[in-house]
Amino acid sequence: MKRLVVFTGAGISAESGIKTFRDSGGLWENYKVEDVATPQAWSKNPSLVQEFYNQRRKQLFDAKPNAGHFAIAELQKHFNVQVITQNVDDLHERAGSENVLHLHGELMKVRSCDYPELIYTVKHWEIKMGDLCERGSQLRPHIVWFGEMVPQMDNAVELVQQADIFIVAGTSLNVYPAANLLDYAPADIPKFYVDPNPDLVYNFGDIQIIKDTAGKGLPELAKQLVNNFAV
Ligand code: APR
Repeated sequence: MKRLVVFTGAGISAESGIKTFRDSGGLWENYKVEDVATPQAWSKNPSLVQEFYNQRRKQLFDAKPNAGHFAIAELQKHFNVQVITQNVDDLHERAGSENVLHLHGELMKVRSCDYPELIYTVKHWEIKMGDLCERGSQLRPHIVWFGEMVPQMDNAVELVQQADIFIVAGTSLNVYPAANLLDYAPADIPKFYVDPNPDLVYNFGDIQIIKDTAGKGLPELAKQLVNNFAV
């Protein structure tokens, strides 16, 4: 089976009712990044940071995967599919995608401040100051904040380098090092970019731009890929 790598961002979850970051009305319009998504924010006002992620976790409980997530999961019947996502929601997994690598962490997980190897999946939406790990250290969101290392980046690069087909969907490519992934895609493979407002500043050659939402563009693209590339 050909290796299909799908690199996604907040846009793929927009039709599931989850806010993007930089669209009008996006998350960063209501919050300052430095107040809720940096290590400095955590040391200055941890309760505000917890509350920011509690609200997003709560919203996730009401969200459902959309046709874009399902189209990617469906492609697993025809390709060896690897999702690399900047999203912290679990909608890819809930749609049935089995290989999902989260570059920026996972909303449904928390980890110990002092023992970062202690990671827990949460069942409830709310994590409070005073909720401790088994060794007595405060639990924090299992999220990669701005300024923190992206531990999965090397794995992601390797996966993109081995891709036979590469899809980018729902990301403005504003955040590094994640956006660098596109530079690692082999030059000679088919590449696709699905976004309703493709203000692509890149000129990365022969990428096919699909000016559409994930919910419409991905099912269409999936049909094309199965017809043209599935063996
Ligand atoms: N379908 C597909 N794409 C969409 C849709 C949709 N229905 N609606 C919006 N988009 C596109 C927007 O045009 C934009 O290009 O999704 C993209 C969302 O971009 P951002 O809001 O910047 O989100 P993202 O690229 O995922 O941000 C990357 O930045 O704030 C950090 O850690 C955060 O992981 C996030 C990272």
